[in-house]
Amino acid sequence: MKIVSAKFIKSVSDERELFNDGVSEYAFVGRSNVGKSSLINNLCNVKNLAKTSSTPGLTKLINYFDINNGAVRFVDLPGYGYHKAGKKNSYMWSNLIEKYLLKANSLKLVLLLLDIRHTPSELDKIMLGYLLQTGRNFIIVATKADKLSKSAQNSAILNISQTLGVRRDIIFVHSSLNSQGKENILNYIN
Ligand code: GTP
Ligand code: MG
Repeated sequence: MKIVSAKFIKSVSDERELFNDGVSEYAFVGRSNVGKSSLINNLCNVKNLAKTSSTPGLTKLINYFDINNGAVRFVDLPGYGYHKAGKKNSYMWSNLIEKYLLKANSLKLVLLLLDIRHTPSELDKIMLGYLLQTGRNFIIVATKADKLSKSAQNSAILNISQTLGVRRDIIFVHSSLNSQGKENILNYIN
């Protein structure tokens, strides 16, 4: 897919505000700070389209982006797995994420992001299970690839594939810093 225009549409905090108009959606899911907003910005070639932050857990809303003037939408979901000190284990992921994944009628693909440097967490495994259970199409994007050498990237991908029991060919490597893997992801979305 060639992205010629990308615009912020709206932030949503309530399931009643979710779109239900038949436009195809691509949703970005993953733990806080994994690089969801940065991936959206990189795919769209717009620096601050989706707000990024080094402080995890900042995006608590669903953010919708219009791609190519109504052709499709990108959906930046709140990060999961982050809890402030004192609220330990207080939540796995917000109700809003769950409602979105359950209800979105025109959700074509979920991009489940994992930091390439880390073995998938229990929460990542549970999220994957949830996607399988709800029958959602998904790919895995291993983010922040610039932090590893090419050979370390390959071992990391193998580890992710084995830990999660998913095929190697649905794992995409990506870096928002140097755009590695960007075209592969855009081609797959196409
Ligand atoms: P939440 O909205 O809090 O869930 O986070 P997020 O998943 O949207 O992560 P975000 O894109 O805000 O990135 C988090 C931090 O990781 C920021 O400091 C980014 O600059 C950094 N980051 C994201 N992608 C990359 C990448 O590909 N390479 C490197 N080196 N840093 C990255
Ligand atoms: Mg974000």
